[in-house]
Amino acid sequence: MNQPAPFFLDCDTGIDDALALAYLLASPRADLVGIGTVSGNIDAAGGARNTLDLLQLAGYPDIPVAIGAHDPQEGTFHGGAPHVHGDNGIGGVELAPSDRGPVEVSAAELLVQLAHRFPGELRVVAIGPLTNIAEALRLEPQLTELVAEITIMGGAALAPGNITPVSEANIANDPEAAAEVLAADWNVTLVPLDVTMTNVLEENHRQELLASEHPVSQALGEMLGYYFGFYIDIFGRACSAMHDPLAAAIAVRGVEVATAPKVRVQVDTTTGPSRGQTVCDLRGQYLGFPDQRGARCRVVLEIGEKFAPHLLGTLQAAWLSEEQVAEPVT
Ligand code: BDR
Ligand code: CA
Repeated sequence: MNQPAPFFLDCDTGIDDALALAYLLASPRADLVGIGTVSGNIDAAGGARNTLDLLQLAGYPDIPVAIGAHDPQEGTFHGGAPHVHGDNGIGGVELAPSDRGPVEVSAAELLVQLAHRFPGELRVVAIGPLTNIAEALRLEPQLTELVAEITIMGGAALAPGNITPVSEANIANDPEAAAEVLAADWNVTLVPLDVTMTNVLEENHRQELLASEHPVSQALGEMLGYYFGFYIDIFGRACSAMHDPLAAAIAVRGVEVATAPKVRVQVDTTTGPSRGQTVCDLRGQYLGFPDQRGARCRVVLEIGEKFAPHLLGTLQAAWLSEEQVAEPVT
């Protein structure tokens, strides 16, 4: 990936979604050409507002943002996760409101349009419930061929869930959509809790963001204060998981994966206690995961390097180069 590849981000912005967005803007390997929002951490309209405000703060006024599904395929939106992400989805941090609004089309329609504009090239990063992606598959049955690959933050392979003992939030929020997306015949990578809960951001990393001169890094540092507050009860110290930015970094090949077998994955859509579970067939682990017939989903279980330094380094490098072209101070 020498030239930046076109990327579509589908998100529920969200504190870690905000980090993923900043990472994709900063990465020299990604050209973010469109963003869709879906209800998850906050409702789809609120997620779009947060996304637009962040884009304005970062100086990207042209990337289209489309509001997607408010409700999952079955039932209605549950109201978000204010205890994790704050009432406004970004830890109560107040950003200057964007001068522009979302585009007229839905997130699914925008994805289909962009897949046609960049056939065989577009890469999708999905870091919220998969409702929009499933809708796009129904709108355009050729989507699986038009899209080069899709990377999904979601699920729990061997790790415990974070919503129920076995289900992770993005899958639990719309298991039917997740089942559809993971059953489709495309190049899919799943970044589950197994790897996102073991790569954390610590307080010294947050302090580094706060000390930055760039307003986006500062805002992210402030948001993380709220996120760390939630994770104290989970990790026993001020730090947080890095779900969404890790998925973004894996999608742009910014970090190497160490263990990522291609295996069969099914989503439980029953109404019993395992609803929303991603059932990953990892029985090949004792043989080093030989090819599995009919398997198309790469499940990332381990990465080969520390993630936090890569994340901070990528943000700093981008913001530094911006400073270099800024007007000299007189
Ligand atoms: C996922 O759920 C959301 O709360 C996060 O933004 C992330 O996408 C983690 O389970
Ligand atoms: Ca998310």
